[in-house]
Amino acid sequence: MKKKLVIANWKMYIESPEAAKKFIATLKRKMPAHQGVDAWVAAPSALIQSLAGKGPVKIGAQSVSAHADGAHTGELSAALLKAAGAQFVIVGHSERRSPPAGGGETNDSVHQQVIRAAEVGLIPVLCIGETERTPEGAHFTFIEEQLASALRGTETVLTKLVIAYEPLWAIGKQAEDAMKPAELQETVIFIRKTLVNVLGRTDGLKVPVLYGGSVEPDNARALIDDGGVSGLLVGRAGADIDSFVEILKKVGRPLKDDRAA
Ligand code: PGA
Repeated sequence: MKKKLVIANWKMYIESPEAAKKFIATLKRKMPAHQGVDAWVAAPSALIQSLAGKGPVKIGAQSVSAHADGAHTGELSAALLKAAGAQFVIVGHSERRSPPAGGGETNDSVHQQVIRAAEVGLIPVLCIGETERTPEGAHFTFIEEQLASALRGTETVLTKLVIAYEPLWAIGKQAEDAMKPAELQETVIFIRKTLVNVLGRTDGLKVPVLYGGSVEPDNARALIDDGGVSGLLVGRAGADIDSFVEILKKVGRPLKDDRAA
């Protein structure tokens, strides 16, 4: 079985360096021993240096500046994140895109962030996802545009990439509000087709596509088995050590029949 990937997006849920270190130490003890799953943690930037290299997981950032250097107060360059020990970075999370929320990132700045990350060897975890679904299928055009604008022309710098598909309407809720696996599967096929169009067949087929939005221990396995994704991006449940370990255990199991066990 190809290894699955589960990324915890801590957002601002973890509130102190002590809590973060305890989480990683516990993860080291409790992480499933079998090899079916890799775990990565996207930490607040201030914690990266103290966590990197301390546990069984890759540590990454939740955002990166679209600029390589210069007069950009409050921004963090890809080079500095890399020097702090980050190995990957979430790019274009919906909580940073505009609209609907705060950070004001556009498709163009997301494109720049992918390039900045790739230039220094950080793996971009590119978030895409529609705000709403319509019967006419406008969400497909929306997703296609997000992917094409972020990735067009990156072939020369990009060696590794992860896509996280997170429909906005499913983020931050309960397992029953997450996308249904069958609907997810259809969308993943569309994303794969678009990746092949934009990156070419060889690269487009290699990129892991994750799902994010109200993932919990209860729905994690079905999303993987029936949704056709290579892994998960987990917010709320990824900042709770018990839930996160439970998700890793469920996702790491080799057989589809194990789902109910
Ligand atoms: P959630 O967040 O798991 O709390 O829905 C996912 C995300 O925003 O990455």
